[in-house]
Amino acid sequence: MADTLTITDNRTGRQYEVPINYGTYEDYGASSPAIDLRKIKGSEEDFGLLSYDPAYMNTASCKSAVTFIDGDRGILRYRGYPIEQLAEESSYLEVAYLTLFGELPTESELAGWTYEILHHTFVHENVKKLMDGFHHDAHPMGMFVSTVAALSTFYPEAREVHDADVRLKQIHRLIAKVPTIAAFAYRHSIGLPYIYPDNELSFTGNFLNMMFRISEPAYDPDPVLERALDLLFILHVDHEQNCSASVMRGIGSSHADPYVSVAGAAAALYGPLHGGANEQVLRMLNEIRTVDRVPEYVERAKKGEFRLMGFGHRVYKNYDPRARILKSMASEVLEVTGRSPLLDLAMELERIALEDEYFVERNLYPNVDFYSGIIYKAMGFPVDMFPVLFAIPRTAGWLAQWLEMLQDPEQKIARPRQVYVGKDERDYQVIEKRGV
Ligand code: SDX
Repeated sequence: MADTLTITDNRTGRQYEVPINYGTYEDYGASSPAIDLRKIKGSEEDFGLLSYDPAYMNTASCKSAVTFIDGDRGILRYRGYPIEQLAEESSYLEVAYLTLFGELPTESELAGWTYEILHHTFVHENVKKLMDGFHHDAHPMGMFVSTVAALSTFYPEAREVHDADVRLKQIHRLIAKVPTIAAFAYRHSIGLPYIYPDNELSFTGNFLNMMFRISEPAYDPDPVLERALDLLFILHVDHEQNCSASVMRGIGSSHADPYVSVAGAAAALYGPLHGGANEQVLRMLNEIRTVDRVPEYVERAKKGEFRLMGFGHRVYKNYDPRARILKSMASEVLEVTGRSPLLDLAMELERIALEDEYFVERNLYPNVDFYSGIIYKAMGFPVDMFPVLFAIPRTAGWLAQWLEMLQDPEQKIARPRQVYVGKDERDYQVIEKRGV
């Protein structure tokens, strides 16, 4: 049997052969070139067929070797390594290196990578002046998006997107500076002075330092929380062609610099259906408040009155493996921070939902956002910082997708087609004749 499709156009009786191509697996990701549909014409002057796919429900926009997800089996791998193993064995900086460059670093590669990241954590003093201009109650994610975009004006050489050395320098800067910007946004929102990076601390230890240090001469991060945050960052690094990664590729495909591309991706992540969901999960749990009110809210979600935030996923039609890891990790963190009624509430909500036909038949399971917010809250992060906490590690994933896109010979500026359903040609009407 040939790896082809034979399409018969019943309008003309003509047949067309279209190839079936495979990626790593034959049973997951087989595809046919959409451009081949253009050969199918109803008549000679016909433009040819387009594939129509709103929200890209069934469209592969690229070939990628970065992340593999099998939504039916609940599988997530970065560069072939199962997320469960990376969560158990690795660190955020090592996973960022793996995701970006394709292989786990040697000891000297990891040491060099860590040195570069930990020594690019400072931002220009004018960045502070920029952030001081935000309103006192500005949402930290709005500050994050704007300030990351502003970095583009501090590093104009970043426009040289085809220069490998220039690209690498911006990758170091972005991965290193996003925690600083995130922490500065938080400190601005609570009226506390900015805390400068302490490059003697680990990546996550330094972030906790910039977030929570008050007057102690040196910040001593709690090792359990430091490790928990590192694990949370590992789980959030990349997730193939999610909404924000697609935006990163789209903006980057015009050869805009990586700072404005990351800012655009972060703007997409901010949406409540995407990375903003973890903030909405907490708001939803706080509204439900007690376990006895869970059935009422589940019924309301089934009626479509609101979305059960933290549930459902475009790709996972099984339990999100990240949610499984976070659920077990939540208990460990709460051992240190103290029990949280929100966790008991969340687990009861999950139990009831997973027994309910509405959720079962739609394959709606908890996703990464369902438990992450509970852990962040227990660690002392305010709810409006949650999407910013998502953006910090996802910056490494966005840059990995950006790098792969720029080096892919099959990619060019992203510019989809459309199906026009508007008015046919008509003549301009002077204002006196309108509405007559
Ligand atoms: C992330 O893409 C990624 O990889 C994203 C992410 C990443 O790492 O980058 O994994 C991170 O964004 C996780 C998702 C976080 N969002 C939420 O938790 C928000 C709540 N979830 C939903 O809004 C929804 O499930 C989406 C947006 C996540 C997925 O939506 P889809 O694939 O477009 O599915 P859909 O809206 O077509 O829903 C299918 C059905 C509908 O019912 P019917 O119209 O068929 O009757 O399921 C229902 C929906 O109403 N449904 C829900 C629901 N999610 C879907 N009903 C109640 N509660 C929900 N959460």
